[in-house]
Amino acid sequence: MDRAFIDAIPKAELHLHIEGTIEPDHAFRMADRNGVELPWAGARELAEAYAFDDLQSFLDVYYAVTAVLQTRDDFTEIAESYFARAARQGVRHAEIFFDPQSHTSRGVDIAVAIEGLWAAVSASSERHGLTSSLILCFLRDRGAAEASTILESAVPFLDLLSGVGLDSAEVGHPPAEFEGVFARAAELGLRRVAHAGEEGPPEYVWQALDALGAERIDHGVRSLEDPRLLERLVREQVPLTVCPFSNVRLKVVSDLVEHPIERMLHAGLLVSINSDDPAYFGGYVGDNFAGLAQEAGLDAGALRVLAENSFHSSFLDEDTRARHL
Ligand code: ADE
Ligand code: ZN
Repeated sequence: MDRAFIDAIPKAELHLHIEGTIEPDHAFRMADRNGVELPWAGARELAEAYAFDDLQSFLDVYYAVTAVLQTRDDFTEIAESYFARAARQGVRHAEIFFDPQSHTSRGVDIAVAIEGLWAAVSASSERHGLTSSLILCFLRDRGAAEASTILESAVPFLDLLSGVGLDSAEVGHPPAEFEGVFARAAELGLRRVAHAGEEGPPEYVWQALDALGAERIDHGVRSLEDPRLLERLVREQVPLTVCPFSNVRLKVVSDLVEHPIERMLHAGLLVSINSDDPAYFGGYVGDNFAGLAQEAGLDAGALRVLAENSFHSSFLDEDTRARHL
C-alpha cells in the first residue's frame, strides 16, 4: 500500500508518552547542553540498548533517558519534535501522556514539565495543524500516596490538563489501589484513562473500569482472554488504544502477523492504533499503520476504520470529531 496514502489518512493519537519520543541523537544533544552524563557512550550505543525483553527492561532505559530533560525549553522542544513528526504522518489531534514523577524525583519541578509542554501544546494548531492536550500519568509502581501528592501539586495547572492516566510497571500494581486518587481526579473535572491488560491480566481491565472509572483502556490486548470482559467492552464501546510496534518490541506478542488487532476489530471493539513510545519501538503512528498493512495484511478499509475509531475514542467534542471524519 502506498505510504503517502497511509500518511494522508487523518488520525488522532491517544496513547503517546512524550518522554518516549526522545530520539537517541536528540537525547545526547540535550545531555551535552545540560551537562548530564548518560550511561551510554553515544547515540549509537543508546540505540543499541533498545532491545527489550519485557516492559520493565524498557522502562529502565526510558527513565534513565528522562535525565536529559532539565528546563522548560527541553520539554517544549521534545513536544515540538513529536508534533512535527506526527503531523507528517497524518496526526490531526494528539492527547499526550507525561510522567511528572519521573521528573520531580530528579528535582525537576512539575511546573517546568507542565509549562514547557504547554508552550508546545498551545501552539500546535498554528505551528503543526494539529490540536493537542495533556494527560498527567501516575507511575503505578510508586504507589497511591505518591500519586495523590503529585495530583495535588498539579492543581494550580488544572486548566492545562485534560485528564489523568496510569502507567509504568503493571504486574503487581493493580488499578484498584488508585481508586481514591482517580475519584479525586474526577472531582477536579479531569478525564480518566489507564494502562491495563498490557502485561497484566484481564482482572486489571475490570478494575480500571469499575474502580477507576477509566473512560479508555490503554493497550487492553489481554482482554481477549476473558469472554465476559470482551462482551462488556464491545457492548459499552470502551475505547482501547492499541500499540502494535510496542507490543512486538516488549514481547507482548511475537510479531505483527500474530498481533490480535484484526481479531479485536472483527469482535466489534472500539480499537485504535497508537505509537506508545515511538523513539524506542521503531516508529511513529503512520509507521505502525504501514507495518500492519505490509506485515499483517490489513487493507485500506481496515486502516480507515482504525483511524476513524481514534477520533471516536478521543476527548474531542462531537462536532469537532465530526469535522475530522
Ligand atoms: N510508560 C511508557 N510506556 C509505557 C508502556 N507501554 N506501558 C506502561 N508504562 C509505560
Ligand atoms: Zn503506554
